[in-house]
This record gives sequence, structure tokens and C-alpha cells, in this order.
Amino acid sequence: MSDSTAGAQRDTKDLARKYAKFSRWQHSQGLALIDFADPRPGQSVVDLGCGTGTLTVELARRVGGQGRVVGIDPSPARLAEAEAKRDPALTQLCYEEAKAEAMPGLADASVDLIYANYSVHWILAPRGMFREAARILRPGGRFVAEFLDAVPPLILEFLTLMPLGEEHKAENNFMNTAAWRDAIAPTPLEIDLLETLTVDLHYTGLDDFYGWLEGTSQGAFDRAKLTGPQRQAYAQRFPGPLDMPLRARRFVLRKKG
Ligand SMILES: C[S@@+](CC[C@H](N)C(=O)[O-])C[C@H]1O[C@@H](n2cnc3c(N)ncnc32)[C@H](O)[C@@H]1O
Repeated sequence: MSDSTAGAQRDTKDLARKYAKFSRWQHSQGLALIDFADPRPGQSVVDLGCGTGTLTVELARRVGGQGRVVGIDPSPARLAEAEAKRDPALTQLCYEEAKAEAMPGLADASVDLIYANYSVHWILAPRGMFREAARILRPGGRFVAEFLDAVPPLILEFLTLMPLGEEHKAENNFMNTAAWRDAIAPTPLEIDLLETLTVDLHYTGLDDFYGWLEGTSQGAFDRAKLTGPQRQAYAQRFPGPLDMPLRARRFVLRKKG
């Protein structure tokens, strides 16, 4: 079985750029999640699984010059893309290569808000993640996340055609509500909210969809690996825009004390 950084090791600058270009729905969900999490001026925020940093920058604007935002991601390619477009005026913002399960650069009880947009399903050791979140949060601090709850059938279909499809499926962790509660229970984190939701995905056509899937799967899907007949069959099946519902999950956890 792959570890939680297998995708990060496979990642490249081109895939990171592709993700930044095609991840429109993750971006708009992420902006809504920032409004929902409501980071305040002066707060210390972690963007967990920050990817190419487009939302990390918005978090940094919200906390202002007296605040601090640390973007955490295990993929050097995504972090390089985030650094490349960093506004030097945002001195409150920095990036660190780390995994949710171990963030040694962050001191105990130093963080007001952990924000995670579509990264929690990538974390294969959720108990380790919650333990580490509880360590770095201040009493009263919050962990606010939205993430995938299941892979849509069309994506699963494409992954079965890929040499890395099975490996990629093993890189994501999906649990039911009881399992999420169990993983959180040993920690000093209280559940304020744990809910499922549906997000409507829209792609202008197959190229748009392929570009997004290549970027988000960190190359596990690669349209070049489809055979000619497979490519033709999909072009006939999806001649126009593609729409699909996505099952997602959201939680708000609060550190006791
Ligand atoms: C779908 S992207 C989301 C990126 C960003 N939050 C956004 O909304 O655009 C998922 C990110 O989770 C990161 N990731 C994978 N495993 C992780 C782990 N164990 N800890 C933290 N982040 C991880 C990936 O490298 C990737 O950048």
C-alpha cells in the first residue's frame, strides 16, 4: 500500500500548474469555506494541504499583517508553485513541507484555526492528524475542513483504465460518520459540526475534465494512457459539457479548554 506522500512524490511542476488552472470548483468551495471559518485579523492560521496556495493567500489577507498563515503540504512541486506566485508584501505568509500527521515546525498551542480545503481525504492516518491538530491548536481553537466523501463513479471508471489507478484509490481515505467520530474521540477536540453535502461539478468539456483530473490526481490519471478506441468512445459519450454531483463532508472541531 502506498503511503500518504506517494502522490506528492509523483507530482511535477506541470501537474501543479494544471491543478491551479483547472481546480475551479475546489477554489470556489474553498472561498466559501474561508467565509464560513471566518479567520480574524491577528489570528494564527494553518492551511492544511494548501496545494498551490491560491486559498492560502486569501487566508493571509484576512488575518492581515498582525496575523500569521502557514501553508502545509507534502508536495514540493505544489509548494514551489505557491512560492512562485507569492506576493512579497504578505510577510505574514509562509509555506512548509510537512504532512498533517507531523508538523514539527508548529509549536504546541500556537494556532487559532486549522483550515483544510479538499485535503483531509488524502490523509491516510486520520487519528495521527487529529492528535497533531489537537497539539498545535490553542484551547478554543478550531479545525474547519471540507473534503471528498466518495469518488464519483465516472472518476472511478477512468481510474480503472490507468496503470496507477489502484495506487491512487489507495491514496484516499473515506470513512463513515461513526468512523470519523471514533477517530476524533481520543483527542481533546469537540465536534461542533460533522455533516455531508453535495457539490455540483461542471466541466466545459472532456479536455477541461481531463485537465482537472490529471492535476488533482497528481498524475495518476493521464489521458495519454487511454488507448485510441477508449479516447474515441469517451469523445462520443461526452460531446459537450460534463456535470456530476460530488459527495463531500464538512466538519468543525473545537479544542476544549
Ligand atoms: C485537492 S488538493 C487541495 C489543495 C488546496 N487545499 C485547494 O483547495 O486548492 C489536496 C492537497 O492535499 C495534499 N496532501 C496529500 N497528503 C497530505 C498529507 N498527508 N498532509 C497534508 N496534505 C496532504 C496534496 O499534496 C494536495 O496538495
